[in-house]
Parts: sequence; structure tokens; C-alpha cells
Amino acid sequence: MKETVLSGIRATGNLHLGNYYGALSKFVRMQDDYDSLFFIADLHALTTHPDPKTLHSNVKNILAEYLAAGIDPDKATIFVQSDVPEVSELYLLLNMHVGIGELMRTASFKDKARKQLGIKVDAAEGDIEREIIGTNSNKRVNAGLLTYPTLMAVDILIQKAHKVPVGKDQEQHLELTRRFARRFNSYYGVDLFPEPENFNFGDHAVKVPGLDGSGKMGKSEGNCIYLIDDEKTLRKKVMRAVTDEGPKEPNQPVSEPVNNLLTLMELTSAPEVVQHYRDAYANCSIRYGDLKKQLAEDILKVTLPIRERILDIQNDDALLARVTRQGAERARERAAKTLAEVREIMGIRKFY
Ligand code: ADP
Ligand code: TRP
Repeated sequence: MKETVLSGIRATGNLHLGNYYGALSKFVRMQDDYDSLFFIADLHALTTHPDPKTLHSNVKNILAEYLAAGIDPDKATIFVQSDVPEVSELYLLLNMHVGIGELMRTASFKDKARKQLGIKVDAAEGDIEREIIGTNSNKRVNAGLLTYPTLMAVDILIQKAHKVPVGKDQEQHLELTRRFARRFNSYYGVDLFPEPENFNFGDHAVKVPGLDGSGKMGKSEGNCIYLIDDEKTLRKKVMRAVTDEGPKEPNQPVSEPVNNLLTLMELTSAPEVVQHYRDAYANCSIRYGDLKKQLAEDILKVTLPIRERILDIQNDDALLARVTRQGAERARERAAKTLAEVREIMGIRKFY
């Protein structure tokens, strides 16, 4: 039997090259070899209070982007999280076995909670604790944010997934998922949930850098190339990317901003092109204008065909309805089976 792979992306905007190389392109490669489920996490998006007017269009964007990037609804189950109500019920049940302490110690919680309270990321832990027990503040951290990892664990466990392709930032959530699975299995003396692992092709997770000289490409960093960017926008972003003053002497180490551009090139350009620019840096003949033009060209070769397909698919309401209905049916069937097992194990039975 094929192993099950499951992953999701929160519905918070458009997908960028980081999402593409870190997550989406892995999904596309995995769908041939695994029993695959890919979904759009709209309930998780609620933890940061999106504008109700834009939530649905964000779900639609990501759905179109999944399909445009090559996830095939005949090979993989593609669905929207909120279309599977079984997830919400299991979320309630699993929470009975999750400690508020372990949730409060999660890095993503601390980070987002501080943002919701409007306090500095390195502010004292006590500020969050005081708020959670309900004193001293009219700002609040919502309980959904605290239980974010329970919901993510349920997404995974309800489908009994073995492999979960995600970027490095999600590894702590995956560790909690394994802990919750182990805890449930041992508390009830059952062997219900497999313990899921991350998945990468090759030996390490890719980290796609941004165009601003340091760090990773990310929505909140404002340094993204989006799959949906048109030619002009994309070229402009690449031409404005941060570089350095140029190498001063032969064979000096490559600076971080230039190395970031070369890393992007490694993802999108032919190996001999990357080598050409590495050599040019080493012998001080590099011209950043040429490097950027080449990089923009090569990124466009990847993104433009995807962009065209996104625009087509976004307008095809019948296709989107068909894919999500079929995905929801398949995902619900599996989820309902797991939920029935959990209810039975926990002693929830009917009189009729
Ligand atoms: P963002 O950081 O832009 O908000 P998300 O947190 O929604 O993106 O990430 C969705 C998926 O894409 C996750 O699996 C995440 O690990 C991956 N991802 C996001 N940014 C990058 C990046 N710069 N490099 C590699 N993977 C990334
Ligand atoms: N937390 C993930 C992120 O921010 C999204 C997500 C929700 C997810 N549920 C999941 C990823 C289940 C993998 C499996 O990117």
C-alpha cells in the first residue's frame, strides 16, 4: 500500500517563489508516488483575523495556484479545510489531551501572540501569561491561536498521514503532532495514529532567500516574487534587488546579498549559467546588471506559464467547484472513518 502524504498552506495571500520551491513543487513531485492530499488551511488563517471580504478570494487564489503549478486532481485529493467538518470535531476531542503549557511554549505562538498584543518579540513571557489568565489588558490573544498546533495535528492525524512536506519553520508543529499521536495511542492502548515525518527530496530543506539582501523570502517580509507577478513587475523587482559594491579582489568570499541572488539562480537557471557568474565574481569581472537580467529571464521562464494558467483557472468557477467538491468528498470519507474510530475509543456512543 502507498504511504499517505498530506500538506496544506494557509489562505493568507498569493504564493511566492519560497512557497513554490519550499512546498508546492514538492507536492507536485510527490503526487505520483504517494496517496496524496493537499489542502488550503482557511480555518488556520482565521487565527490572525483576515478581512471576511478577502478570505474566500484568498482560498480561491491558492486553489488556482495549486492547480496551475501542476497538482492534478486526478492524482491527488485537493480540498478546502473548512469543507471537512470532521476536522473541527476531532479538534475538540484531541484538545482534551493537549496541555496549555506545551502550546504556550511553541515558538510560533509566542511570536504571533506578541504581535497580537503589540509587544516586542523578546518581551517577557509573563506578559503573555498575564493576558491569558485575563488580567491587565483589554487586548487579547485568541484561544484559536494557542490551539493552532492542535488543529494542524488534527489535519494530519485525521487522514493518518505518514509524510508531511513543509518548510523548516513548521518542524516544531510536526514534533507536537507526533507527541499528540503517541500520547493518544498510549493513553487508550490503541495503535490508531501513525507518527508523521517531514519530507524533502535530497537531504535538506530549501530556504529561498528574499531580494532584500538577507533572510528568507516571506509574505510578511515584503520581499517576495509572486507566481502571479506580471513580466514588468517581476523584472522591476529583480532589477532592484540588493547587491554589494562589487568584489574588490580575486576570490574573495561572496557577500550575502549576492549569494542570495546566486541561490535564486541555482533554483531557476542552468548550472553553467550559475557557474559563469560565480567565476565572474571570483575574477572581479561580474556585472550585476547582467546577472539580474539573466535571473529575471530565468525566473520568468518558470513563473510566466504558471501565471497564465492561474489567470485561466481563477475564472473557471465550474472547474474550481468540481475540484473542491470531489476533494471534499474524498477527504471527508477518510476523515469520517477516523473520527468514528476516535469516538468509539473515547467512549462516545449513541442511544439510537
Ligand atoms: P510565509 O512565510 O510567506 O507566510 P507560509 O508560512 O504560509 O509562508 O508557508 C507555506 C509553506 O511554504 C510552508 O511549508 C513553508 O515552510 C514554505 N515556505 C515559505 N517561505 C519559504 C521560503 N522562503 N523558503 C522555503 N520554504 C518556504
Ligand atoms: N501551519 C502550516 C503553515 O503555516 C499550514 C498547515 C496547517 C499545515 N495544517 C497543516 C501544513 C497540516 C501541513 C500539514 O504553513
